[in-house]
Amino acid sequence: ARPKVYITREIPRAGIDLLRQAADVEVNTEDRPVTREELFERIADCQGVIGLLTERIDAAFFDAAPGLKGYANYAVGFDNIDVPEATRRKLPVSNTPDVLTNATAECAWALLLAVARRVVESDAVMRSGDWPGWGPMQFIGGDVSGKTLGIVGAGRIGTAMARMSRGFDMPVLYTSSSGRRNAVLDAELNARLVPFEELLEQSDFISLHTPLTPSTRHLFGAEAFRRMKRTAYLVNTARGPVIDEQALLAALRAGEIAGAGLDVYEHEPALTPGLAELTNVVLLPHIGSGTASARTDMSVLAARNLLAMLEGKKPETCLNPEIYD
Ligand code: GLV
Ligand code: GLV
Repeated sequence: ARPKVYITREIPRAGIDLLRQAADVEVNTEDRPVTREELFERIADCQGVIGLLTERIDAAFFDAAPGLKGYANYAVGFDNIDVPEATRRKLPVSNTPDVLTNATAECAWALLLAVARRVVESDAVMRSGDWPGWGPMQFIGGDVSGKTLGIVGAGRIGTAMARMSRGFDMPVLYTSSSGRRNAVLDAELNARLVPFEELLEQSDFISLHTPLTPSTRHLFGAEAFRRMKRTAYLVNTARGPVIDEQALLAALRAGEIAGAGLDVYEHEPALTPGLAELTNVVLLPHIGSGTASARTDMSVLAARNLLAMLEGKKPETCLNPEIYD
């Protein structure tokens, strides 16, 4: 019999069509996340599931799908998956790295430039009809060229973000949780691996690209904001809880930092009350990977991963390859 697959939200066709060649596929076509109850009902007789970062993939999820052969995350971040629990059950789980690297790095640049040059505030004035005409003191922003860029988490996306700074001639600093140097950043950009405190104190722009783990949760809190330059900007396209949003709000209000560009939030989809009233923040609705090609490639990679798992083979981008040893 053909395996049954559930996809928890509409994703680009390419991946769904690929899966349909070998499986009976059901897609949640409602434009909202499935509830836990709906999800558990839908997956009860499924062998494979493609899910999103809005779903918790944990012991209860695996219990609800006794015939499951694998789970493919439609995201590179996998803090929503209890990987050790999947591994204990010898169930493969996968993510979608690489295909969204440039899209997410470009999104970080969009935020960096938008917050430094006050693009969103300025746009609002044009739409309001209240612009009195050119003025020498209007919307003075921060410089970018020649300023120091600090990359927290020099993985694939952090490396891409840093490489894109070449046109702006920015000295690049980075931290690394492994303590290992990044050969690409060192060779191409003369970047410097520095302790976290040094990165905080010397950077004019700090861009976050670290996964969310117990050691990166609230990495940016009151103490970090105090160490940052008052003229510095923070950009986050990684995961919201890396920042203590209440502390960020206080730092932005007090002028401890110049501004922030955020694509992700501590309590998505909620915003910490007060954040949306500030003019020195740019707020995006978690669209880091949101380009046509990245999203299409994510759907195809997730589908290929799931097809491999359904055949008992190791998926291309497996998060627990040790189960095949
Ligand atoms: C999006 O946030 C992702 O992890 O792919
Ligand atoms: C993170 O997962 C990255 O691709 O940098």
